[in-house]
Amino acid sequence: MHLIAAVVPLLALFTTGVVGQANKNQTTQAATPQPSATTAAPAAFSTSPPAVPNGPKCGKLNEWETITTSVQMEKIKGCVVYMGSLKITLIGNKDLTGLETLARVDQSLEITVSPDLETLTGLNSLVSVGDKLFIHENPKLVNLNGLEKFSYASSGVLIYDNPSLTSISGLSALSTINPKFEFPFGLHIYRNPKLTSLQGLGALKVVGNALELHHLPLVTSLQGFPTSPSSAIPLVNLTITSMARLINVTELSGFRVLSTTGAGKFAKLNISANAVLTSLDGLGGVSAVQGVTIDNNPMLSSIKALTSVKSWAGPVSFTEDWSLCDYSGINVTAKAAVKDAAFGTCDPSKAEAASKSLLKESAASSLLPHSSAMYIAPLVAMLSILAY
Ligand SMILES: *[C@@H]1O[C@H](CO)[C@@H](O)[C@H](O)[C@H]1NC(C)=O
Ligand SMILES: *[C@@H]1O[C@H](CO)[C@@H](O)[C@H](O)[C@H]1NC(C)=O
Ligand SMILES: *[C@@H]1O[C@H](CO)[C@@H](O)[C@H](O)[C@H]1NC(C)=O
Ligand SMILES: *[C@@H]1O[C@H](CO)[C@@H](O)[C@H](O)[C@H]1NC(C)=O
Ligand SMILES: *[C@@H]1O[C@H](CO)[C@@H](O)[C@H](O)[C@H]1NC(C)=O
Repeated sequence: MHLIAAVVPLLALFTTGVVGQANKNQTTQAATPQPSATTAAPAAFSTSPPAVPNGPKCGKLNEWETITTSVQMEKIKGCVVYMGSLKITLIGNKDLTGLETLARVDQSLEITVSPDLETLTGLNSLVSVGDKLFIHENPKLVNLNGLEKFSYASSGVLIYDNPSLTSISGLSALSTINPKFEFPFGLHIYRNPKLTSLQGLGALKVVGNALELHHLPLVTSLQGFPTSPSSAIPLVNLTITSMARLINVTELSGFRVLSTTGAGKFAKLNISANAVLTSLDGLGGVSAVQGVTIDNNPMLSSIKALTSVKSWAGPVSFTEDWSLCDYSGINVTAKAAVKDAAFGTCDPSKAEAASKSLLKESAASSLLPHSSAMYIAPLVAMLSILAY
């Protein structure tokens, strides 16, 4: 009993480590919108969440509630607006039946370590979260079906460490993430080893601040994002790393990487460890950067997409891009001005071996569970239920 009582909170801490930190009192900030410089952004999008029907409210502002059993779920049955943060770690449920009325969560919604969960059916009324939506470490979750009305997240959408996830097409209504560029988050999709495509993100209008895609070994293209340059989806930081089969980023053409969305915000790029990436064509309209890491892309030979960068600030690193021998597109004057910079390690004879090594690494890492919490926590939760 005592042992279990001690282990449960420890594990809870472990599994939500980043989450807890990231969540510091954001709703209060969100409730008092600052006048922001994002008016410069071209696309038409609303910075407020869509209205939801009137109905029962439950939960408490700045409190987390954890739902582990169907019995606990009964307590929030019929609720339309959940006023705090809700964590769902359900044992024995294949879907989220029982949450059909839930239209808005005022703070974060976290769906995690639910060992039997296969789809999100049941969340069919959910329209918005007032902070973040987290979906992580659900060993059997195959798709995000059920989220087809979900369109708005004030701070971020994070989908990671779901070893069985093959599709995110359930996100087809998602249009607005961190629209006031208030939080250092955005759309984060990573370490989902079975995910084959990003189809389903066609409704996106704004991703403030960050788009982070990494460790998605089966994703071969970024098809799924709106691609018309006129969509001009504003974005600040971009990370594309360890995408073992990604050949090009053509489908980033619908984004507009902002140099500033307010005082002193510059785009930061990290495009690294992509085994077969050949070109950055598609990367849209980056005009000022602060911090660029484009390392270990052995097949990358064209970076002429960076011609648009007028202002470079360090650190800038282009190393182990063995096929990159042509920097002519880059503004030499601007480039020379970068103090902390490493440009150029052209040596095509090393490219193939480096690429193979990255592919091998990717195959090996996708076989390993990334967190033992995924497997241990449900067991401990089960034991603690039995023990009490
Ligand atoms: C959140 O911030 C508000 C005002 O800044 C404060 O009154 C409230 O106690 C804070 N809540 C938490 C949980 O920190
Ligand atoms: C961009 O990323 C850097 C480093 O991770 C971070 O300090 C900065 O806040 C980010 N910028 C925005 C606008 O999110
Ligand atoms: C980009 O890669 C995809 C394969 O993922 C390929 O079908 C397409 O032709 C490539 N586009 C360009 C412009 O090379
Ligand atoms: C870039 O991404 C790689 C892989 O995710 C990471 O290890 C590295 O720390 C990142 N670098 C920067 C400067 O953000
Ligand atoms: C090149 O960079 C310099 C210095 O940042 C800038 O003044 C100039 O306008 C740039 N030229 C082009 C063609 O972008």
